[in-house]
Amino acid sequence: MVARTLERGVERRDERKKGRRSHEVSAGPKREDFVLHSRIRKAVKQFTVNTPPGPYAVVCWRGVLARAGALLETLEPVSGVFLLSSPPVWRRWGRALEKSLRRVHGAQAILFDDRESAKTLATVERLCRELARARADRQSVIVALGGGVVGDVAGFVAASYARGIRIVQVPSTLLAQIDSSIGGKTGVNLPEGKNLVGAFHQPRLVITDPQLLKTLPPRQYRAGLYEAVKYGVIGDEMLFRFFERRMGEVLRQEPAALGWALERCIRAKAEVVSADERESGLREILNFGHTFGHALEAATRYRKFLHGEAVGWGMIAAARLSVQMKLLAPAEETRIAQLVRRVGPLPKLPAVKPERMVELMRGDKKARGGRLRVVVARRIGAVETAEDVPEEMVASVLNWMWES
Ligand SMILES: NC(=O)c1ccc[n+]([C@@H]2O[C@H](COP(=O)([O-])OP(=O)(O)OC[C@H]3O[C@@H](n4cnc5c(N)ncnc54)[C@H](O)[C@@H]3O)[C@@H](O)[C@H]2O)c1
Ligand SMILES: [Zn+2]
Repeated sequence: MVARTLERGVERRDERKKGRRSHEVSAGPKREDFVLHSRIRKAVKQFTVNTPPGPYAVVCWRGVLARAGALLETLEPVSGVFLLSSPPVWRRWGRALEKSLRRVHGAQAILFDDRESAKTLATVERLCRELARARADRQSVIVALGGGVVGDVAGFVAASYARGIRIVQVPSTLLAQIDSSIGGKTGVNLPEGKNLVGAFHQPRLVITDPQLLKTLPPRQYRAGLYEAVKYGVIGDEMLFRFFERRMGEVLRQEPAALGWALERCIRAKAEVVSADERESGLREILNFGHTFGHALEAATRYRKFLHGEAVGWGMIAAARLSVQMKLLAPAEETRIAQLVRRVGPLPKLPAVKPERMVELMRGDKKARGGRLRVVVARRIGAVETAEDVPEEMVASVLNWMWES
C-alpha cells in the first residue's frame, strides 16, 4: 500500500526524532479541528485518495518539499527521475527540490512554458521527445513542479509516454494544491476548446508544501481562494465559517490558518475523487459556480478572468439562482456573496448580453442535450445538481447581476 509505505518511510527518516505524528484524515469534521494548536500544526498530514488504479497519498505540511527525496524513495524501483517544471517556478523552487533529491541518482530537469497558450499537443510532443532522448523508460518517474498548467501537461505526458509512466505531483499554486493535483485529470487545449485532449492518469503521490505559495502572485493566490470557498459551500460548513472568521489570516498566509484550510480542502477533493473517479455523479458537485464561470471565461476569451475569479462570480450567480428556485434561504445567499467578496476584488463583469451568456451556458459540457444543468445550493454545506433549470430564471439572475 502506497500510503502505508509512505507513512513508514517518512516517519523513519525524519519525523520520529522531531516528535511529529503521522495520521490519515478521512473522517468527517471534528469540532476540535477548529483549535489551531501548534502541536497539530506540526503534524504530518496525509490524505489517501482511493481510485480504481490504486490508492495514493497526498502529503501536506509546511517544509515537506525538503523531504521529497525521501518520499520518492518509497516508489522504488525507479530507473530515472525527470523534473518537469516551468522557468518561473523552477527559478524559485527548483534548487530546493533538487537539494532534497540529491540522494536520488540522476534527476534531470526539463523546463517548459507554463502559459495557458502553451498547454498544447506541441508541448507534449516536445517533452516526450526529450524524455526519449534522455532514455526514459517505464520505470522512470516524472515529478511535476508547478501550477495547474504544469500538472496537466506533465500528467498527460506521463499518461502517454511509453503508454504510461508514473508521476508525482508537487503543486505550487493554491489552485493546484487544492484541486488540479488531485484526481488524475490531465490534458491540453486545442484551438477548438480547452482541455479537449486528455486522459485520466492518477499520480502515485502528491507532495503539497504551503510554503511554495509564498512566491505566488497575490492575484493567483486569491483566485485559488475562491475555489477554497467553494469547498465550504459544497460540503463543509465548518470550513465556510472558518473563512468567515479568519479570512484575514488566510489572505496573509499565516501558517496555522492556511494549513488548516488547505487540509480541509484537500480532504474534500480527495473524498469526492475517491467516491467518484470519473466525474459521473458526485464529482459534479465540484462544479458549483462553474457553469456560469466557464461561460464568463469563454465570453471574455479566457483573457479577463483567472479561472478562480470566474468561479467567484459563478458562485454569486449560483447562490442567487438557488434562492430563486426556493432552495436556499436569502440569508445564506448573502453569506456566500459576502465571503466571495472578502477574498478580494473580482474583475468587473464584461459587456456581454445575458442571452449570450445563456447560450454559452447551454453549450457547457455539463448541459446535457441542451437543457441547463446547474449545481445549486440547498444550504451552506449542501449542494445538488438541478436538471432542466428554466432559461428565463437563469436570464433573470444574469440581468440582476449585470444591473447590480
Ligand atoms: N486537472 C484538473 O483537475 C484541473 C482542475 C482545475 C484547473 N486545471 C487547469 O489548471 C490550469 C490553471 O492552473 P493554476 O491556476 O495553478 O495556474 P498556472 O499553472 O497557470 O500558474 C499561474 C502562474 O503562476 C506561476 N506560478 C506557479 N507557481 C508559482 C509559485 N509558487 N511562485 C511563483 N509563481 C508561480 C506560473 O508560472 C503561472 O505564471 C488551467 O490550465 C486549468 O485548466 C486543471
Ligand atoms: Zn475550478
